[in-house]
Amino acid sequence: MSETAHKTLFILNGPNLNLLGTREPETYGNTTLAEIEEDTAAKAEALGFNSDFRQTNLEGTLVDWIQEAEKSAAGVIINAAAYTHTSVAIHDAIAAISKPVIEVHLSNIFAREAYRHHSYVSDVAAGVICGFGAHGYMLAIDALASMLRGQS
Ligand code: DQA
Repeated sequence: MSETAHKTLFILNGPNLNLLGTREPETYGNTTLAEIEEDTAAKAEALGFNSDFRQTNLEGTLVDWIQEAEKSAAGVIINAAAYTHTSVAIHDAIAAISKPVIEVHLSNIFAREAYRHHSYVSDVAAGVICGFGAHGYMLAIDALASMLRGQS
């Protein structure tokens, strides 16, 4: 692994998260994805990491990025959004890599519709953070950074 990869956290975001700020604010809050990107970059830097923050509406692109993390990242934070509840492909991609993955959701998926209660990500994730809004990304960076420090 290169020196940069060793210090890079991938923060991957799935479908419709580009709409944060205006999308169902009563469920997802008022913070935009650009604001989350800015805050996570500062948090990662304060902990000695770089962040590579991405969003896509495409399932296959998330699969490509998870595969890329094996070579180019120390660990992954992922909010797979609706694909969380549907994607065996994302489950398999996470299972295929050796890097720790933390699952994040802004909302508490267990307090919502029954179809959101199952996640294809959780059983291959190192941990799950949900229900804390945009702050969940900061908690995930803290958790991932301390996991990675424990490994080194
Ligand atoms: C979400 C929860 C998912 O159920 C939903 O499909 C999303 C966002 C969250 O961050 O709360 O798009 O992942």
